[in-house]
Amino acid sequence: MAARLFEGKAHASVYHRYRFSPPEKLQEVIWAYLENKKVSSFQLAVDVGSGSGQSTLWLAKRFEKVVGTDISEAQIEEAKQAAHPPNVSYLVCPAEDLPFKDNSVDFVFSFAAVHWFDIPRFMKEVQRVLKPSGCVVLATNCMDMQVHYKDCTGKLTEIFKEFRAEIFKYANEKVSRVEDDYKMVFDTLPFQDKQRITDIFGTVPFTVAGALGYFQSFSMYQTCLKAEPEVAKSLIQNIEKRFLEVMEVSSLETPVEIRFRHATVLGCKKS
Ligand SMILES: C[S@@+](CC[C@H](N)C(=O)[O-])C[C@H]1O[C@@H](n2cnc3c(N)ncnc32)[C@H](O)[C@@H]1O
Repeated sequence: MAARLFEGKAHASVYHRYRFSPPEKLQEVIWAYLENKKVSSFQLAVDVGSGSGQSTLWLAKRFEKVVGTDISEAQIEEAKQAAHPPNVSYLVCPAEDLPFKDNSVDFVFSFAAVHWFDIPRFMKEVQRVLKPSGCVVLATNCMDMQVHYKDCTGKLTEIFKEFRAEIFKYANEKVSRVEDDYKMVFDTLPFQDKQRITDIFGTVPFTVAGALGYFQSFSMYQTCLKAEPEVAKSLIQNIEKRFLEVMEVSSLETPVEIRFRHATVLGCKKS
């Protein structure tokens, strides 16, 4: 069963404001993989579970045509309204039923999304739509992110972990697929030629306000917000207050970085 946790307009809007492109290091690993697999056709890339489009745009540098797909109309509406080059378009459709012909796609990509899909059905679609030597990359941010500011990284990360433990009570069971660093995703990919990398690290610049916005885009936070709005709001107020105290600053515009580890499954169809 697919999980429908990203449907609301408000959630889509939070997404659009606070989510980010796959970090540079991850992009480098992906381009190197395509080179290594001697991918020579760059006609069509599909970003499945594109949300509001942050994970889609970077593909437009190399592919003639890029299509972002998502089951949520609200997310796709945000993506369509945001600036995007003419070779990028968006479609509402489930990952388990992609509107592309057999053997027609050069590259299937998904960022922070596959764990929400009906994975066996999605993998059949990957197998069906990819060209014979097409590639797939399924990547995610892992749970063990660090919040960095001057010499406060340890304390800020501890505060973040406490916040995460609270909202984890509202987590969908599918989050366990991220906790296992996409091992289940790897095992389910029906290709012989595949690998899983769990130690790609990337840093994303935020402000304190941006980091708090990013935390509020988590599905478990949004679930908490719906179930117990006062609890959710006080969790954010609490983390905001503690962050500012530890950093000894008063401005929410103070820059911080979040350091991510990415788990990534890469595969090549090979006929
Ligand atoms: C955590 S968001 C990631 C969005 C985007 N890739 C990013 O990096 O910001 C997960 C996305 O997957 C979408 N999604 C969940 N289940 C889906 C399904 N079965 N088919 C297509 N999209 C799905 C959600 O609507 C949501 O936009």
